[in-house]
Amino acid sequence: MTVVVALDGPAGSGKSSVSKAAARVLGFAYLDTGAAYRALAWRCLEEGIDTHGPADVIESLPSFEFEIGTDPDGYVVRVGSEDVTADIREPRISATVSAIARIPEVRQYLVDLFRSIISGTERPGIVVEGRDITTVVAPDADVRILLTAAEEVRMARRSAELSGVSAETTARELSSRDAKDSQVVDFMNAADGVTTIDSTDLDFEATVASVVALVRSTTATS
Ligand code: DC
Repeated sequence: MTVVVALDGPAGSGKSSVSKAAARVLGFAYLDTGAAYRALAWRCLEEGIDTHGPADVIESLPSFEFEIGTDPDGYVVRVGSEDVTADIREPRISATVSAIARIPEVRQYLVDLFRSIISGTERPGIVVEGRDITTVVAPDADVRILLTAAEEVRMARRSAELSGVSAETTARELSSRDAKDSQVVDFMNAADGVTTIDSTDLDFEATVASVVALVRSTTATS
């Protein structure tokens, strides 16, 4: 049986880097669901698909050819044959992605895809991170975590990641995206049975260690 670790959290909580590192330590696969939403946003911008008119985005779904890696050591995202791993982190994508992620048909399409990736995992487990993993994608996951951090800490971390972008711009972008995204799914409050890990006062290694310890203790007793 594959161990499924579901991890949700707001932007800048460190969930991508923490999930990837925890997957590495555990020998698990890793799935960044936000990258799929971002890849779709990239493709819409690339092809001039109107992201505010849901009809055009929905119509584009069947021809959305993309690949999302699950190896935490060789992580790659492709749209068609193009490697978009770096491009999908650009601010223009962050500014567009929420409009796409609020379309129910897009969510259903991607949720089905995530579930098929999870069930096809060949490693002993998979760490899946996003906004609705503990509640919608994998509510029956073996381990369910909400990774949070105080807003000012999240903003400082995100702005350290993005060179050339001012701290004010990062803060504005981050809180406006969280506000839009949390209208669609609640990732600020832990659902029943979900363990909150608050990383405000934890450094990166300590955060990864608490995720790994929780996975080990939960799976040892189940
Ligand atoms: O985690 P991220 O910042 O890469 O996510 C990009 C966007 O995708 C984010 O603005 C919200 C959306 N998203 C979502 O709605 N559900 C998920 N499971 C993952 C991401």
